Amino acid sequence: MKSTKFIVFALILGLVLGSGVFANGGSDSGAKGDDKIVVGFSQIGAESAWRVANTESIQSEAAKRPNIELKFADAQQKQENQIRAIRNFIAQGVDVIAFSPVVETGFEAVLVEAKEAGIPVILSDRAVDVQDDSLWVSFMGSDFVEEGRRAARWLIEEGHTDVNIVELQGTVGSAPAIDRKTGFEEIIAAETGMKITRSQSGDFTRSGGKEVMEAFLKADGDNIDVLYAHNDDMALGAIQAIEQYGLKPGEDIIIVSIDAVRGAFEAMIEGKLNCTVECSPLLGPQLFDAVEALMRGETLPKRIVTEEGVFPMEVAADVIDTRTY
Ligand code: AHR
Repeated sequence: MKSTKFIVFALILGLVLGSGVFANGGSDSGAKGDDKIVVGFSQIGAESAWRVANTESIQSEAAKRPNIELKFADAQQKQENQIRAIRNFIAQGVDVIAFSPVVETGFEAVLVEAKEAGIPVILSDRAVDVQDDSLWVSFMGSDFVEEGRRAARWLIEEGHTDVNIVELQGTVGSAPAIDRKTGFEEIIAAETGMKITRSQSGDFTRSGGKEVMEAFLKADGDNIDVLYAHNDDMALGAIQAIEQYGLKPGEDIIIVSIDAVRGAFEAMIEGKLNCTVECSPLLGPQLFDAVEALMRGETLPKRIVTEEGVFPMEVAADVIDTRTY
């Protein structure tokens, strides 16, 4: 009897150790027959030039690494699609899930499911708002609050301190929209002459930026001194609206936006955009370095912040050729 119990115990121990459930935060080491690390990535969509560059960075970096198998899902800017994609990754038993959450809230349940399945989750680009921080292992990407502060500081440094400002916000409920607003407002709070007179979401898209700017101009066309756009795509859409309205973007209305995509540099060279604050989408190498480190059993830093700069229109022509997105 004793020996039967021992054999059963040894068999169970062997199965548990063989499955690798104790390694790497609960997942196996990526051995899916061909020894690849399988990563499920849920992308927000293709709403902006930034997002397209981010997708390219992730897919091209995965393709360079023979030990990585990437399963990529595009959520078309819908949270329900993102939750469905993450559930699919869990069902497939991927080694790591990474995603860029379209909004901050509403992911708790699916993250609990991932944790229960023993699959570590990396947040790429955007944060989630959950009670339990152990639901994700690392968050890599920009400091969006600081980006908002940088946009406001640039306006102040340039002497635009007695101005009516209209704001084009990003996707409602998203981390960059919330944080960029917070950072910007924090800095202008000390300047009594700087007032946000209108603020609305353009959903981070060029068409959204154009449409909302048209409405701002219709309502208040002669009283807008500054446009603060949470991304370049919305600023580029707004530039079209301003021109159609008969004003000169970059002169009649000073424009500061965020991302530093190529289109923003072209607009600055044409004198239509005054400043762009950098937000780098090139997160692919960092992401897969982190995935590999995790699979080696290393503990990742909880927060990895991307280093970024500010580009005013005066430097645009010199810098444009060095831009890779
Ligand atoms: O999360 C990063 C933001 O998302 C970028 O600023 C914006 O262009 C994108 O859509």
